[in-house]
Amino acid sequence: MYRRKNATTGREHSTCARLGRIKIIMSQLTIALTKGRILEETLPLLAAAGIEPLDDISKSRKLAFETNQPHVRLLILRGIDVPTYVQFGAADMGVSGKDTLMEHGGDGLYSLVDLGIARCKLMTAGIKGQPEKLGRIKVATKYVNIAQRFYAEQGRQADIIKLYGAMELAPIMGLADEIIDIVDTGNTLRANGLEARIDIADISSRLIANKASMKMKHHLMQPIIEAITDAVSVKG
Ligand code: PRP
Repeated sequence: MYRRKNATTGREHSTCARLGRIKIIMSQLTIALTKGRILEETLPLLAAAGIEPLDDISKSRKLAFETNQPHVRLLILRGIDVPTYVQFGAADMGVSGKDTLMEHGGDGLYSLVDLGIARCKLMTAGIKGQPEKLGRIKVATKYVNIAQRFYAEQGRQADIIKLYGAMELAPIMGLADEIIDIVDTGNTLRANGLEARIDIADISSRLIANKASMKMKHHLMQPIIEAITDAVSVKG
């Protein structure tokens, strides 16, 4: 048997052992999920594909969960990190908002199924009753890439200010003229004296997959994709 010495440890590794590890990796599936509100709507779709976490995710501080299917593992991440995990193959599949995917750009992954959950809109908003400022404006958002593309397409000059939350405060405090953010009920805008202006995109969550995993683990992923697609169409 061919043996190679590890330069650091001095230990010998056989080709067989390495092939064994590759075989194990190829037979396991990691799915990255977004914690919070989206998760509650995602778990029933996974259950429809026969995948259920062994622990109660909402009561645990763990970030990785085994499931009733020994070869499937769930990761619970911040939404913004899901496409990155999937892009680089740290997760084979994931559930991510279209807003997050638009911001990420979609390199290295496929967007497979519109899950029809976590529906909302990505909009610009400004102070209620205040006319839109002409000329160069300041825009507060966590969606820097989307904002740059959007204002460039509009032919408007905009300085983008990156924030991580509480965007709705920025116009009131004079930090920005406009914001770009998610609008669901519109309650947060109203509560902070803002009004929605331009509708940038309709948002919902998508089932995404790493491009290489789609080829290498097709046999594991295809039944899950089909079951979730069926569950989404039944839900309507
Ligand atoms: C989102 C978004 C808005 C709010 C809109 O925040 O950033 O603040 O929801 O919802 P509404 O129109 O129903 O008021 P979220 O609560 O998801 O927290 P985040 O700011 O951490 O993203």
